[in-house]
Amino acid sequence: MKIEGKEHRTIWFENNIVKIIDQTKLPHQFIIKDLKTVKDAINAIKTMEVRGAPLIGATAAYGLVLAIIENNDQSFLKKSSEDLINSRPTAINLKWAVDRMMKKLSGVNSDKILTIAIDEAKEICEEDIKFCENIGLNGLKIIEEIYNKKKNTVNILTHCNAGWLATINWGTATSPIYHAHKKGIPVHVWVDETRPRNQGANLTSYELNEEEVPNTIITDNTGGILMQRGEVDMCVVGTDRTLSTGDVCNKIGTYLKALAAHDNNVPFYVALPSSTIDWETKDFKDIPIEERNSEELSHLDGLDANGNIKKILIYPKKSKAMNLAFDVTPAKYITGLITEKGICEASSEGLKRLFKY
Ligand code: MRU
Repeated sequence: MKIEGKEHRTIWFENNIVKIIDQTKLPHQFIIKDLKTVKDAINAIKTMEVRGAPLIGATAAYGLVLAIIENNDQSFLKKSSEDLINSRPTAINLKWAVDRMMKKLSGVNSDKILTIAIDEAKEICEEDIKFCENIGLNGLKIIEEIYNKKKNTVNILTHCNAGWLATINWGTATSPIYHAHKKGIPVHVWVDETRPRNQGANLTSYELNEEEVPNTIITDNTGGILMQRGEVDMCVVGTDRTLSTGDVCNKIGTYLKALAAHDNNVPFYVALPSSTIDWETKDFKDIPIEERNSEELSHLDGLDANGNIKKILIYPKKSKAMNLAFDVTPAKYITGLITEKGICEASSEGLKRLFKY
């Protein structure tokens, strides 16, 4: 998708270096950063220079490519794979991508290992783009249906950034929106600010602006009243881990939005590629929920009058703060899962029908 009119992807590989857009600097600075070692890749995931479930999976895959370039040794590769999986705990794509890479690379001692690794990491990225595009085409049908009934702008609420910046291209939740916009259907997006890191305001609104999709940032507490007023036609969010039961783990605050949508009969959809499905965990209480540094709550980054990025403290110095990064929305509050294979009910029967597990 576009930034300043130029097509970009979030991650690519060039001259044995992994290139990423440093998302900690957006929307104020557009900086392309080089990752040269597996440690760089782990650090980029931990500090959220790259974030979003599919993108951290792709970064981990390229992290293994960098590990091979550094030291073509199976025990180093194994240790690197473990460190990559542990760099963030909640998004299952990380483990999915590392396991997929390791299946190809374990035991390969020849010089061919680097080519195999590069090809597989590329394939993970290409597949994600295709899946996100299909999610868009499938989700477009929902937006079209609303538009055909309403004959007026379709108002869509989203939480966090499940946009192209969270994937390789297109995004998951935003892909149906981009497809509708490109088709000429009038859409307007309510963008949840998404405290504490403001991925909605800093990333979703930014990328929608760059594609000229009308959008308005709201605080995380505003969605409820907008739904009561009939100003939200549908919600669509992404996910970091969807269980085979249809329960969805996503950015903190998603659950409360789903409750408000349920109370107001607003359809609540979750968009995901199959790489985000955790087929093993049965009980959502067993999903590891990331707890991040409380500084992310107590401090804010912004531009000062001279155009420099500054960090400021906004809480009382003595106050404690807690920063849980994700919550779980039970399947019963989800209208449907929009996947690359089609739309299904958020249930094991629904997922079984599409993926035949
Ligand atoms: O903490 P983040 O910014 O990595 O969280 C991202 C989300 O919660 C997204 O909604 C999710 O990863 C889906 S991305 C297509």
